[in-house]
Amino acid sequence: MKYRFIEFIIDDGIAQIKINRPEVLNALNIETGDEIIDVCNKLKKESSARAMIITGSGSNFAAGADIIPMMNASPQEARKLTFNRAFNSIESLELPVIAAISGYALGGGLELALACDFRICSEDAKMGLPEIKLGIFPGAGGTQRLPKIIGTGRAKEMIFTGAVIEAERAFEIGLVNSIAEDDVLNEALKMAKTFRSLSPLTLGAAKRAVNFGLGNDLQAGIRFEEELWAGCFSTDDQREGMKAFSEKRKPEFTGR
Ligand code: COA
Repeated sequence: MKYRFIEFIIDDGIAQIKINRPEVLNALNIETGDEIIDVCNKLKKESSARAMIITGSGSNFAAGADIIPMMNASPQEARKLTFNRAFNSIESLELPVIAAISGYALGGGLELALACDFRICSEDAKMGLPEIKLGIFPGAGGTQRLPKIIGTGRAKEMIFTGAVIEAERAFEIGLVNSIAEDDVLNEALKMAKTFRSLSPLTLGAAKRAVNFGLGNDLQAGIRFEEELWAGCFSTDDQREGMKAFSEKRKPEFTGR
């Protein structure tokens, strides 16, 4: 697939998606969602990438779903505009995914960031779910993922009021992992590179275990964790990790 609304690269083991519609502050249209799905399918099949960063072109992350095609949509048409397939594809990638947020991350833009494992923002970032002011509410995972990240009370406050918050507040409530002191993409790259020396197998399993637990009850989560954890002991990476410890050297993980 040729990409029109995103740029995609893999450089030195780090994949990068850049949403590229700066003239509308990177508002997401259906095609952007389809292109994201295509990237995720590629990464799932075969890839040298060990982590991924999602960012926006220009000075914004994404100011939401594109409002214009939604204006006269029927309920059936609206279902196609949720971006759930695209955001679920990101969430189910078995590598760490970091949203590097500068400027606006609103509505579907923030929901895209919520489907990532980590969010790093710049000091000028502005984040919110303003859908309530458009006569709708967040419909791309926002009502489900946000409470799990920042807690129910704070999530309801953001969803019911549509308030836009700044970087400091976002950090305070745990919406972002950190505020970049330098360029946000550089900070995200720094974090992404730390994952390259770890085992992609065990990172993937740890991510699956955490995500499974978010959607299931505690005992089911604990059984799932046990299954995946025991599975680590069939890998070369577990042998190497523990052998390197006993030999007082750095492990060389192979992903096998
Ligand atoms: N969908 C479609 N177009 C959008 C958009 C969106 N979500 N967000 C911004 N744009 C467009 C604007 O219509 C404008 O287009 P124009 O130049 O043809 O008029 C362009 O992007 C620049 O935005 P503008 O509103 O002029 O910038 P601003 O700095 O004055 O305001 C925002 C920035 C983010 C506060 C404002 O654009 C906004 O409220 N956007 C919608 C946010 C939203 O409700 N998102 C949830 C959608 S479900």
